[in-house]
Amino acid sequence: MQWPTATLPLLAGLAGLAATQGPPPGAPPMMRFECSQLVVDRIDPLVNPGVVPSPHLHQIVGGNSFNATLSHDLPSQSTCTSCTFSEDFSNYWTAVLYFRARNGTYKRVPQIPSEGLTGNGGITVYYIPDAKNKTSVTAFRPGFRMLVGDAAATTKQPDRKVCHRCMPTSGDNSNLNCAAPDTQTLPTGFCAGGIRTVITFPTCWNGKDLDSPDHKSHLAYATGSQANDVGPTGTCSGSHPVVIPQVMYEVIWDVSFHFSSVRKLGCEMADRDTQTRSFNDKSLWPADGSQPFVWSTGDQ
Ligand SMILES: *[C@@H]1O[C@H](CO)[C@@H](O)[C@H](O)[C@H]1NC(C)=O
Ligand SMILES: *[C@@H]1O[C@H](CO)[C@@H](O)[C@H](O)[C@H]1NC(C)=O
Ligand SMILES: *[C@@H]1O[C@H](CO)[C@@H](O)[C@H](O)[C@H]1NC(C)=O
Repeated sequence: MQWPTATLPLLAGLAGLAATQGPPPGAPPMMRFECSQLVVDRIDPLVNPGVVPSPHLHQIVGGNSFNATLSHDLPSQSTCTSCTFSEDFSNYWTAVLYFRARNGTYKRVPQIPSEGLTGNGGITVYYIPDAKNKTSVTAFRPGFRMLVGDAAATTKQPDRKVCHRCMPTSGDNSNLNCAAPDTQTLPTGFCAGGIRTVITFPTCWNGKDLDSPDHKSHLAYATGSQANDVGPTGTCSGSHPVVIPQVMYEVIWDVSFHFSSVRKLGCEMADRDTQTRSFNDKSLWPADGSQPFVWSTGDQ
């Protein structure tokens, strides 16, 4: 069992922005915005800089100067972004999901925007402050990068911050974060409203490094924090004393067959994807009844 990677490089000066697209009802104050797909490509400048093609496929959202290396200052060289906050030239990316039909063919699963948002189904990005003590959170420095997951892992990881939910057609605002009924593995049945994947980044920083060799060890999950915490909670101490906002991604994989979506390519172009999908056709699922979805990293 491995996990999808998700990276957040380069976030500059966002801390002062007001949320214009509010959080779901009942959720604490947060900034939440839709980022349409910029490109789907085999590049990963964080984990495999300069390697084209990278070992697996990613969907990338954000500023348009993204390429296979992080040798340039991406935000300053981007002229537009696929995110709805035009001030945010950061880039965010994740692995993508495939449907593996019984005959062995793979089809990439398209995405739809999260509830209440419009756009072309890339990643919904959340920045969540400490609801109890807003002054205690330090803004990300320009050039900051981080990663969740390990595409090379071959055993189940203690990383509890990637989870999935089988969504009903009516949507599901309850338990925004990784709480029941979310699971660490993909749902096993049909999901009429899609599969929702939530990826939650750590909230404790060492206060010095914009990155680290594994892109993770400059950060830590807070002591005493729970998988379903919304916003920074628990204690940041020792080597990672600085509280940063909780960054969370939400991705809705359109595994149902009745949706159609419009995919944005680059910042301007759109590609309408109205093909009928057959992901809910049980005759195409594995004969043993197991679920047919697989990540671009090879994980299930
Ligand atoms: C990425 O873009 C920067 C800035 O334009 C450029 O210097 C760098 O060579 C590019 N890298 C690749 C791999 O194209
Ligand atoms: C395999 O099944 C898929 C889904 O029904 C179909 O689109 C594809 O054409 C099939 N491929 C082959 C080689 O039979
Ligand atoms: C809030 O955080 C600041 C900075 O860490 C700290 O000085 C202050 O005591 C905290 N306030 C409360 C009520 O916890």
